[in-house]
Parts: sequence; structure tokens; C-alpha cells
Amino acid sequence: MLHIADMDHNKPILSFCTTCRDGQEVVQRGIRGGTRLARAFLSYSESSQKPGFEMRGVQCMSQCKRSCIVSLSSSAGFSYIFGDLNPAEPSHIEALNEGPFRAKLNAAS
Ligand code: FES
Repeated sequence: MLHIADMDHNKPILSFCTTCRDGQEVVQRGIRGGTRLARAFLSYSESSQKPGFEMRGVQCMSQCKRSCIVSLSSSAGFSYIFGDLNPAEPSHIEALNEGPFRAKLNAAS
């Protein structure tokens, strides 16, 4: 498990709400949508370029109506929250590593 003390605080932090529900928990053996989203992103990022940010799991960002939720933050920049992410949708996983998201990442760092 990654602890905040172990993190590089100069890098932006991508936080996954691991408790978000996507309505598929019954058919996904009780594994929350947010946890599946984080796992899918980890799997994707291991097979693609190095993400350039720290990752962590958190429990609820008070955006439950827009689950699944991810936030991007840094100590010296803006914070962004992204919602309505589907862990089963490859384009949503890819979007967290590309295009406009990368622009936000650059703004946050
Ligand atoms: S459970 Fe994910 S934002 Fe509340």
C-alpha cells in the first residue's frame, strides 16, 4: 500500500475514489466501480508510458452522484475533479493518460 509519506510531493497526485459505485457491483463480485477503475488504470499505465504523477486511493470525494470519480491535484497548482468515469470503458481509461487530461496535468505541475 502506498502511503502519503512515501509520495513525491513535487509530482501531481491522481486520486481514485475506490468506494465509488457504478451499479455493477453485483456482477463484479462486490468490487466497487472506483476500485475497478483504479485497477484498470494501473493495468493500462503499466503497459503504456510512465504516468508522471503519484497515484493513491481515497474513500469518497463527496461527488458520489457523478461516480466514478478521479481528482488531479498538486501543492502548487489547480485541482481538478473528473466524474462519470466508467471502469469498463477503455476510452475513459485512456483519457486519463492523454489529451486534455495531460494538459491539466501540466497545469497542475
Ligand atoms: S463514494 Fe466516490 S465520491 Fe463518494
